[in-house]
Amino acid sequence: MSEPIILGIESSCDDTSAAVICGNQILSNIAAGQAIHNDYGGVVPELASRAHQQNIIPVIHSSVAKANIHIKDISAIGFTRGPGLLGSLLVGTSFAKSLAMSLGVPLIEVNHLQAHILAHFIADANPEPPKFPFLCLTVSGGHTMIVLVKDYFDMQIIGKTTDDAAGEAFDKIGKIFDLDYPAGPIIDRLAKGGNADAFKFNKPKLEKYDYSFSGIKTSVLYFIQKEVQKNPNFVNNNLNDLCASIQKNIVEILMLKLEKAAEDLGIKEVAIAGGVSANSALREAMSAKAKHLGWKIYIPKFEYTTDNAAMIAMVAKLKYDRGEFCDLSVSATARYDLEESFKS
Ligand code: KG4
Ligand code: ZN
Repeated sequence: MSEPIILGIESSCDDTSAAVICGNQILSNIAAGQAIHNDYGGVVPELASRAHQQNIIPVIHSSVAKANIHIKDISAIGFTRGPGLLGSLLVGTSFAKSLAMSLGVPLIEVNHLQAHILAHFIADANPEPPKFPFLCLTVSGGHTMIVLVKDYFDMQIIGKTTDDAAGEAFDKIGKIFDLDYPAGPIIDRLAKGGNADAFKFNKPKLEKYDYSFSGIKTSVLYFIQKEVQKNPNFVNNNLNDLCASIQKNIVEILMLKLEKAAEDLGIKEVAIAGGVSANSALREAMSAKAKHLGWKIYIPKFEYTTDNAAMIAMVAKLKYDRGEFCDLSVSATARYDLEESFKS
């Protein structure tokens, strides 16, 4: 039997994306970002929904054209149901419903967090997919958690942030440095020219495998305020060193708990996922663990790290194989726990 062709739609935050998958091969993965938020230092929900509304039809058109298929070849439509910004999710959800209805094809709802993790099973995400059970450090602008992945549809969160997400920490600290939003990739770039040991920042002490990032943001803020009083050009004069030091601190915090979890559970298959998994220092730290601790590591291809519809299409394909469809009464949900999506 030939593989179904599935269209995936992602609109949970500020990227409008559409992808076409056949089997686990991505035929197209198109995304339109929203530069409109750069000036505001963060995503403005109202502006994000409007931009999704403008982008969604051209993005889906390009995705279908790039995949070299006809819209009528689509066997099912997968969309991000949550978690995310409600107004943004509603655009993708409503569009997916209408298109599924007009094409007469099944509709498949996808949890965005599960999609970040299962992006590893896209054919060209890794040289080979992870083997169950594996640990997945899922780090994005909205989430930071260590997930024990026992199967595609059996996952357990064993540790998570008690306040800010790691990506949020990058973005908020970037704002203190007057960098554009999202600051994560900018800090990553600037860190390359800096000394990561130039400045020391504290590390939180939390139970088990949990994280905290709001304290670092506050200590950076106080430190900068103090230094700027002595030298108004302090940030500009030390920008590379500041970025390198902050990045090192965040990556060390992330790796400490991940390493502890891997050791306690006796797991050597370790993956990273989500926007922050694009970070070069985190990728290097993972490679170092592979070398020193014998981990088998999985670092997804760049285009499958930050929000993308390819990962949504991947989960939709796995659900299609299980016959897990939803009806047209399905609604978007801003809060959608990872574990909740396995209860039905
Ligand atoms: O997964 P994602 O695209 O959206 C959410 O689901 O949140 O992640 C976006 C987050 C932002 O906070 C962004 O600053 C961060 O990922 N990010 C990075 C890098 N690229 C994206 N953080 C650090 N280094 C990067 N290279
Ligand atoms: Zn995401």
